[in-house]
Amino acid sequence: MNATEKIFAANWKLNKDPEEARSFLKSFRNLLAQQPLESNREVIIFPTAMSLATVSEECKNTKIHFGPQNVYYEKSGAFTGENSATMAQKLGSTFCLIGHSERRQIFHESDAILHRKVELLQSLKMTPVLCIGETQKQRDEKKTLLVCFQQLDEALVDVDHTQRLIIAYEPVWAIGTGLVATLDQVAEVHSAIHDKLSSRNFKNFQILYGGSVKPDNASDLLKVPHVDGFLIGGASLEPDSFMKICQAEYKPARH
Ligand code: PGA
Repeated sequence: MNATEKIFAANWKLNKDPEEARSFLKSFRNLLAQQPLESNREVIIFPTAMSLATVSEECKNTKIHFGPQNVYYEKSGAFTGENSATMAQKLGSTFCLIGHSERRQIFHESDAILHRKVELLQSLKMTPVLCIGETQKQRDEKKTLLVCFQQLDEALVDVDHTQRLIIAYEPVWAIGTGLVATLDQVAEVHSAIHDKLSSRNFKNFQILYGGSVKPDNASDLLKVPHVDGFLIGGASLEPDSFMKICQAEYKPARH
């Protein structure tokens, strides 16, 4: 296990052109200079592919990590419109988001495709941030764990257990809706994912929660067992609100 205790990952989705990304990072770096983060907190930015080079420049000599929101499972070739993991890596990306529910639903990404992406990223020693989660219908049908386990099983079949892996549990019904999973719901799913990955002998993994994380619910969510951080959409678009989430308290106050 590395020394990271909590991870704060910004998913900017299809927002922020290069100039907007630059201006965000200038403000965010100023905030960090005023209120440095504890060294066990890791920040990752997932900008659009168009803004990745700018984010790379702006994160130089900082502790801010970054990576693309998606890559293709081949490194190069006749794949018009796709993103290359090796090119993202050349820009300094150490992480890559894959399998976001928007990719699964809108772009029909399957677990089999995600498996190939995990394999490619592992071969490059990049850390996949693999998103999983159930729809409202699946939750109503009491299939939450079944769906999450299926997504994990298929994407992770025969992958390297020793490399770092990050799972983002994002209930689809909580994404961008303002509906947050209850602390009990989060605790149940995170502990089930934790047990599953441990029983499959994964040695170095973290589990993030995503879905309407905001500055005012971050502390409570961060205290839930096996919540190792967040994947944040809407609230990561403003430096102030992202910073408040990155600074959220999770340890009991000392007396
Ligand atoms: P949200 O998005 O924080 O706006 O709900 C989370 C995500 O889609 O990763």
